[in-house]
Amino acid sequence: MNIETLFLLSFLFLIVVSLLLVLTWTIRNGISPMPTAPKVAKKLLEVIPVKEGARIVELGSGWGTLAFLLAQKYPSCRVLGFENSPLPYLFSRVRQRPNLCFKYKDFFDESFAEADLIVCYLCPSLMKRLKEKFEKELRPGTVVVSHTFAVPGWEAQRVVFVDDLYRTPIYIYTMKADG
Ligand SMILES: C[S@@+](CC[C@H](N)C(=O)[O-])C[C@H]1O[C@@H](n2cnc3c(N)ncnc32)[C@H](O)[C@@H]1O
Repeated sequence: MNIETLFLLSFLFLIVVSLLLVLTWTIRNGISPMPTAPKVAKKLLEVIPVKEGARIVELGSGWGTLAFLLAQKYPSCRVLGFENSPLPYLFSRVRQRPNLCFKYKDFFDESFAEADLIVCYLCPSLMKRLKEKFEKELRPGTVVVSHTFAVPGWEAQRVVFVDDLYRTPIYIYTMKADG
C-alpha cells in the first residue's frame, strides 16, 4: 500500500469515527449539535437583555458558535458553555477566550444558581426537564432565553420572531420571586 492510499484510508477512518461519535451523542441526548443559524444568532444578540458583568450560561453549547458570539459582544460578561458531546466540545475549545469557557459536562449535573442569564437552543423534551430545574434553582431576576422551543407552561415576557423561513421564535423569560 502506498503512502497516498494510507493517508486517504486514515482520513476516511477519521471521518467515519467522527460521524459515529456525533451520531451516538445525538441519539443519547435526543438532539444533534446543529448550530444556531446566523440570522437567528444575529437577532438573538440584538434582543437579549444583557447586564454589565453578567454570568451567561449556555446549555448545550455545541460547536461553540453562539457562546463565542456572546463572549465577543459582551467582553465584561463571563460566558460558560456546557456540552457533553465529545467532538463538538473539543472543537469549541479552540474558540475559548478570557471571558469564554466550555465545560465537558451534562448540564443536568450542574447547578444554575449562579447564572444571571441562561441561553438555550434545545428540544421540547429537554425544555420540559429543564423547567423543573429552573424553577428549583434560578434566582429571581435570572433571565432565560430560548430560541425555537419554549419553556412549557411559562409565559414569556417577550417573544421575538426572526425574519427567516420558519419565523423562528426567541422566547425571553425573567424568573419572578414566586417562580
Ligand atoms: C441544537 S444544539 C445547539 C448548539 C448551540 N447551543 C448553538 O445554538 O449553536 C444542542 C446541543 O445541546 C447538547 N446537549 C443536549 N443535552 C445536553 C446535556 N444534557 N448536557 C450537555 N449538552 C447537551 C447537544 O449535544 C447539542 O450539541
